[in-house]
Amino acid sequence: MKKVITYGTFDLFHQGHYNILKRAKELGDYLIVGVTGETYDIERGKLSVRDSLVKRIENVQKTGFADLIIVEEYLGQKIQDIIKYDVDVLVVGSDWIGKFDHMRKYCEVVYLERTKNISSTQLRESSKILQLGVSTDTLNDDDIIMESKYVSGIHPEAVYSEEASVAKAFAEQFELDKGLTDYDAFLDTVDVIYIRNHRDKKYRLIKRALEKEKIVISTPIVGANAEEVRDLYDYAAENGRALIECLPTFYLQAFVQLLWNAKGNLIGDLLYVKNGFWPGDLAGIDEDDFRANLYFSVLTAEEFLGKDIDFTMETVSAANNEDFCVLLGKSGSGIYLSEISKQRSISSRMEIIGTDGVIIIPDEWWYTGYFEMHKNGEPVKRYSWNFEGNGLRYIIMSALPKPGTAATSSDIRIPPEEIINALNKTSELIKKNR
Ligand code: CTP
Repeated sequence: MKKVITYGTFDLFHQGHYNILKRAKELGDYLIVGVTGETYDIERGKLSVRDSLVKRIENVQKTGFADLIIVEEYLGQKIQDIIKYDVDVLVVGSDWIGKFDHMRKYCEVVYLERTKNISSTQLRESSKILQLGVSTDTLNDDDIIMESKYVSGIHPEAVYSEEASVAKAFAEQFELDKGLTDYDAFLDTVDVIYIRNHRDKKYRLIKRALEKEKIVISTPIVGANAEEVRDLYDYAAENGRALIECLPTFYLQAFVQLLWNAKGNLIGDLLYVKNGFWPGDLAGIDEDDFRANLYFSVLTAEEFLGKDIDFTMETVSAANNEDFCVLLGKSGSGIYLSEISKQRSISSRMEIIGTDGVIIIPDEWWYTGYFEMHKNGEPVKRYSWNFEGNGLRYIIMSALPKPGTAATSSDIRIPPEEIINALNKTSELIKKNR
């Protein structure tokens, strides 16, 4: 079998990438694609990459040409990969002609002509910088301003609050140009808005922002009733607008990888998913918004076990007012158990048990950067990612339209039907427990 390997960043996946992968595959029987890791890109000064690693890997995968995708983490890895995978041909774009001749000691080196008139750099430069606005009732920003600094192509510009004092103080604190109390005037100055207002105000604020064609990132909209939430998603879909709920956990690279491993049968059929978490520790979800925390747990269950889960819930109120809740879910084949409490003495671990092994996130699974896979009869596999902030940067990244595409081309991880389903289930649970 003839093995071919090629490398790239594959940011804002374009025709040039597609062509080189296609032609590389045609040179052999098995194609390995090395996608550059984020730290490696930063080390070599490539700071402007727009897409997350997960997104770039997904795009390569979608072409169907790659038989194996690996991550290129450091200088000098290419030679090791070539030896390790017993590679016959290294394919490089013609922009690197001559630069890889020293690899001829290890394998054949083929330089393929680049596709004319397209590159990731060109796509990045042709897109305008989008202005970010925050709509809030308090000075808490969930770190959105800091997180936005990690995403290229967006600039924090303005804040809106009904309270003039909040608008002014927020703008000063985060060095924003504008602190406004007129919502329409605020919307006119921004392209992307982050809504973290009280649940009772969200529906109105989101609807107006969508009407004004803004890209909307909102903390969970669970406070609104299900019809209102449905109306917002329907409106967004019918009018080609982007509405993304802020659920950073589901966008973390480690979590996405873990889901692939769990759902890709790497530990067999899923039997049991167990976790505990502390409300208030999640970006975008208020500690006292029990409904939002419960909703997050319901969504987590659905991510692993699918939509058809029957839930029951038990709560006890402790003397210190720190309620303790246990959520139990059962699908056709699996069980979900989640402990929710502000009390930090509960475990913040997640365990996913399958017929062939278990995946463990040892602590604070909702901000995971690390997990272990214990497969029966095999050595433990450890997966780890570098610090990813509180995850909001990935939400912002996925909210931004890709250059040359419509605003709706954002990568919403949780489809609206799943959101509405989780919302209905959350409401039922709360009703039953009254
Ligand atoms: N490539 C290509 N034709 C293009 C652009 C890229 O054949 N028009 C090839 C590159 O030569 C490389 C692979 O695609 O082998 C991945 O390239 P990458 O650096 O990720 O893409 P660029 O568009 O060149 O990115 P940038 O502008 O950031 O350098």
